[in-house]
Amino acid sequence: MSGIAPAQTVDRVVLVGFMGAGKTTVGRLLARRLGWSFLDTDGLVEERFGLPVGAVFAQLGEPAFRNAEREVVATALRRGDTVVSTGGGWPEQVGTMESLPPAALCVWLDAPLEELLRRARTQAADRPLLDVADPENRARSLLERRAPRYARAHMHLETAGKDPGTLADAIVRRVRDQVQSERPKTT
Ligand code: S3P
Repeated sequence: MSGIAPAQTVDRVVLVGFMGAGKTTVGRLLARRLGWSFLDTDGLVEERFGLPVGAVFAQLGEPAFRNAEREVVATALRRGDTVVSTGGGWPEQVGTMESLPPAALCVWLDAPLEELLRRARTQAADRPLLDVADPENRARSLLERRAPRYARAHMHLETAGKDPGTLADAIVRRVRDQVQSERPKTT
């Protein structure tokens, strides 16, 4: 586990991590367990443009995607009782990890590169950044560059060999601990 926990009661969770980390799967389960809403920010960007992520990159360019991503994540993070699953590149944008709301617990879902690539290959998700001649090399350099940004999260979870339910449970415990520790002691 890394980082310092937020100072006040947690009423939102933001999931960060590389493509294939399981942010959407774990996020949905987590939201169900907590009885909170779930927002997937790639989906919100797609809704905004009326285009899939790959088409946004191809037709409007990555900067347009990044601007929209920054805005939709900022809006999503204003809501309480919400789990927000971000795109793998969001933490790299300047100021993002530094301006998390105090009520947000940020969780880094991590896995070894080979595992991330294996998952990314078998998922249907649209990932234009890995649609290159040498996706492994691209993923390695992106991950190296981004790891220090992901590491600013309050909680670091290794996901390899763990099922999404176990990971969601670990986050639920952390959220509940945080809430408990805010309650005045009665003894
Ligand atoms: C990206 C990750 C994708 C999506 C876009 C760019 C990235 O989201 O936002 O393809 O820069 O790593 P997932 O992490 O949900 O795959």
